[in-house]
Parts: sequence; structure tokens; C-alpha cells
Amino acid sequence: MTRRSLDRILQSQGFGTRSFCRQLIRQGEISIDGVVVDDERAEFETDGLSFSLFDETWVYREHVYIALNKPSGIECSRRPSHHPSVMTLLPDEFREREVQAIGRLDHDTTGLLLLTDDGAFNHRMSSPKHHVPKRYLATTAEPVSASLIDALRTGVQLHDEPEPLFAIECVQVSEHQLEIVLAQGKYHQVKRMLAAAGNHCAALQRISIGQLTLASLALAEGEWCYLEQSQLSLLQ
Ligand code: URA
Repeated sequence: MTRRSLDRILQSQGFGTRSFCRQLIRQGEISIDGVVVDDERAEFETDGLSFSLFDETWVYREHVYIALNKPSGIECSRRPSHHPSVMTLLPDEFREREVQAIGRLDHDTTGLLLLTDDGAFNHRMSSPKHHVPKRYLATTAEPVSASLIDALRTGVQLHDEPEPLFAIECVQVSEHQLEIVLAQGKYHQVKRMLAAAGNHCAALQRISIGQLTLASLALAEGEWCYLEQSQLSLLQ
């Protein structure tokens, strides 16, 4: 149970600097339980708090955990070099809260991307020790062959890796598509593994992380949603 003043609450939710949040409060922009609160020092219990601002209802969240169906042509970095940042697809409040992607997808990879402002959670999920399996749907330039599947399952040697990397699971979906599940998240790993096995990745989509599937979230490309505790537990 935590009680905080309204100006600090708004600031923690990404609505701007403390002085800007105070201004919003003094202007009567915030209401709680249908009553305008114009005292910036009024204190509220944050657990379960909801308030209205800018004609929207907001629920207090200590941290945000977000799933995005990433489109192609978007970089995961907050400071992108060649394409728009993933942050352009999210509300400004998330940028203020310093939300960051958990791991990266290439600019041309689509599908399930997680983001959070919980640094400890991000660190845990990104740690090589964590080994959350990630499932990808890869479209290949050349037809998928039994020897390709076999090579990906038994392991392919990438030039800068000390040991061969292998897929935990690899199944053919159609003549030019396969699903591949990886335990690690090395740089361009799927594309490099396909190239090392003699094919070429023409398109790549991440379709699940742990037991959390993109299909279960029903997000169109570019759409995002909050993840609740039951969904976060699917990532363990
Ligand atoms: N493997 C890749 O090659 N690219 C990605 O974006 C993710 C995994």
C-alpha cells in the first residue's frame, strides 16, 4: 500500500515534469471518482487508483508491460538510425516513462515485441541465463528441405560463435516456410542460421515468447496492449 501526492502520481505515469503535472491539477484537468481534484498535494492510495485526464480514464500502474505487434520498417531502438523508432507507435506517456524494448527485432522482422519500464524485469528477461524460448515463422527464399531442417536441429556453425547454434524445435509449415524455436537471442540469429544452412531468410515474424503467443493477443500490425499478470506468467 503506497500513498502519494497527486502531482507525483501523475509524473510517475509519464504525464510530464512535476511542475507540468501541478499545472494540470491546478487547471482542474484531473478527476477521481467523478470529482475534480485541484489540490496537487492531495494524497491517494496508488493501488487500484484510476483517474480521468484528457477525457480518458487511466489506471495507475507502477510499471507497464506492453506487447506490440511490430510492423516491418521500424527500429526497436529509442534512438534509431535509419527507420522510425518503435516508440512512435506508442503513447507519449511511455516515452516519458522510459519504456524500452526487451531485446531487439531487426527493422524488417515483424511480430511479438515486449516492452517495459521495469528495468529489473527487462534485465531478467534479456539475460542469457533466462532462456525463454522464442518461436519464429521464417519464409525462405529457397524451398525448405529435410536437410535444412536437420541442419537447424543438429546445429550450424556461425563464424563468430564458439559452438554450433541449434534450434530447440524446427518444423516445416509449407514449401517456403518453417517454424523455428530458439533458446538464445543472438544478433540476426535466425537469418544467420538459415544462411549458414544454405538457404536465405526472405521474411521473419516472431510468433511467440515462452507460452505467450501473438495470436492470443489478437493485435493488428502496429497495435499494442498492456500485459497483465496472467500473461506475464506465461513468459517464465
Ligand atoms: N533472428 C533474426 O535474424 N532477426 C530477428 O529480428 C530476430 C531473430
